[in-house]
Amino acid sequence: MNRRLTLIAPLGACLLATAALVAQSAAPQQAVDGAYAKFKSLQEGKNADYIPALAKVDPNLFGIALVTIDGKVYTAGDVKTEVSIQSISKVFTMAQVIQEQGLDSIEKRIGVDATGARFNSIIAVEAVKVVQGTGAPEMNPLVNPGAISATSMVKGSSSDEVWKKIIGFHNDAAGRQLNVLQDVYKSESDTNQRNQAIGALMLAYGYIKDNWQQAVDLYTRQCSIGVNAKDLATMAATLAAGGKNPVTGKQVLDNNKVPGVLAVMATAGLYDDSGKWLYHTGLPAKSGVGGGIIAVSPGKFGIAVVSPPLDDAGNSVRAQRAIADISNALGGNPYAAREKAGS
Ligand code: DON
Repeated sequence: MNRRLTLIAPLGACLLATAALVAQSAAPQQAVDGAYAKFKSLQEGKNADYIPALAKVDPNLFGIALVTIDGKVYTAGDVKTEVSIQSISKVFTMAQVIQEQGLDSIEKRIGVDATGARFNSIIAVEAVKVVQGTGAPEMNPLVNPGAISATSMVKGSSSDEVWKKIIGFHNDAAGRQLNVLQDVYKSESDTNQRNQAIGALMLAYGYIKDNWQQAVDLYTRQCSIGVNAKDLATMAATLAAGGKNPVTGKQVLDNNKVPGVLAVMATAGLYDDSGKWLYHTGLPAKSGVGGGIIAVSPGKFGIAVVSPPLDDAGNSVRAQRAIADISNALGGNPYAAREKAGS
């Protein structure tokens, strides 16, 4: 090779490698932008209104974020405006209890089975009470009764101490200090008589050991934590990356505890629509009535969409459509073993 060629060849290789990298990293951005454009004008669904503050949130808010397990962030739309995390917090409080007390703790006290009922069903509690004492209840920590019980399991000598642990765990997963949206907290506290009834019932049946009022209050507070789409995607990516926040590098949850958490999300994350969701995407996911949904492609990426209008099961319409579209474009379905994520 003459001298000119020896100079050009490495340069060419370098350019090719850079082009390949650009092509690789362009795929998630294209997928995110594509879904944003496709679903921006979708008008289906309706904001939750049983918590009055949620009815006032702008239904046009639409933000998408995807965070890969190596910490790359891709976004479209509004990823700054915060909504209340709502039921998505149930995943992280469950994870916190599992981290603190082991995988058995949640399975034995609450169960890891789908109820097939709405998230705030009282009939579902009545239906499982007979198995108490004979084995794991057929319930899970992602429906309100199980979630209030999981919150009651976080150890601490005062409400403040427990709260600091709960918000601390959420902060670590999001990679920043999160705050409670006080208007949502007040609105839900003023109107959560149903959850209070559920808390009292869970004490009566022994799922909660004491102080159900504290458990309901802390649960209401955790549901009122303000998050944007980027926070939620980082939280999802923490689960995708074996419990390590890929942006901050902090190990939030032990790697060997992540599959159990993802399994409950796959079973019950979108409530009675969880099977349908899993059938189409294969992704463990969790919705919140604030309009957020997180989904996890293990070993690949976490994704989140915020869009307040919900369907009848209480899941954001646009979030479901956008996440399914992006994940399918990137080969995110963990059951499709031969497809590669476009990360
Ligand atoms: O307890 C409630 O009803 C709300 N704080 C949370 C419900 C929820 O997000 C259900 N999600 N889809």
